[in-house]
Amino acid sequence: MKLTLKIWRQKNSKAKGELKTYPIDGVEGDMSFLEMLDVLNEGLINKGEEPVVFDHDCREGICGSCSLQINGEPHGPDRLVTTCQLHMRMFKDGDTIVIEPFRATAFPVIKDLVVDRSSFDRIQQAGGYVSVNTSGNTIDANAIPVNKHDADESFEAATCIGCGACVAACKNASAMLFTAAKVSQFALLPQGRIEATERVLNMVAQMDKEGFGNCTNTGACEIECPKGISLENIARMNREYLSASLKG
Ligand code: SF4
Ligand code: FES
Repeated sequence: MKLTLKIWRQKNSKAKGELKTYPIDGVEGDMSFLEMLDVLNEGLINKGEEPVVFDHDCREGICGSCSLQINGEPHGPDRLVTTCQLHMRMFKDGDTIVIEPFRATAFPVIKDLVVDRSSFDRIQQAGGYVSVNTSGNTIDANAIPVNKHDADESFEAATCIGCGACVAACKNASAMLFTAAKVSQFALLPQGRIEATERVLNMVAQMDKEGFGNCTNTGACEIECPKGISLENIARMNREYLSASLKG
């Protein structure tokens, strides 16, 4: 395939960025989107030009770092896949593909297609954990019975990889789906109930402090989430937040 790529280039967080056009040839359907960018970068390096900077690590849908806005959609046109799992067979010969970083005030651009998502780390640090007694009298986790339905729902929430597609998809740049997944994975388990009140209050407070917008129930986050994290998690977090506020 021959394609035309329009890629956001930005030297650093202060510089004004712009879309630059790069023609590319010899793209095969079996290539992943990142492999296609590797080919482009190899060509740029061979010509003595600066390669396009983009984030990636696992390249198998686990780490959540390969976050690109492709033709206006986080992770591109396929469903339930990350950018690294997106295959070029989703495009056709002659297509123009616009590639941008995720856009949100709380995700400032570092360079080209890489954004700073440390705001997510700070939301996690505000309460996305359980405290465990490591005195030597620790109870084996399997000794606490957990209802199968709750265990499954908790596991599903825990599959959130923190990619930020939910924020990039939302017209308000809301981080509710991410935060709700992180709150839910513990709220559903007995081990998570002990710190549940302060967890939801602290994580929501941090989310607001980072400058993410409000949720207006448009549901774009759920559609674009590569892990299929459900909006039900947001409803659960809202219930958790209400009951924590009443206690507080
Ligand atoms: S909820 Fe989905 S889209 Fe949002 S950070 Fe988690 S995996 Fe990514
Ligand atoms: S590179 Fe890790 S999820 Fe894509």
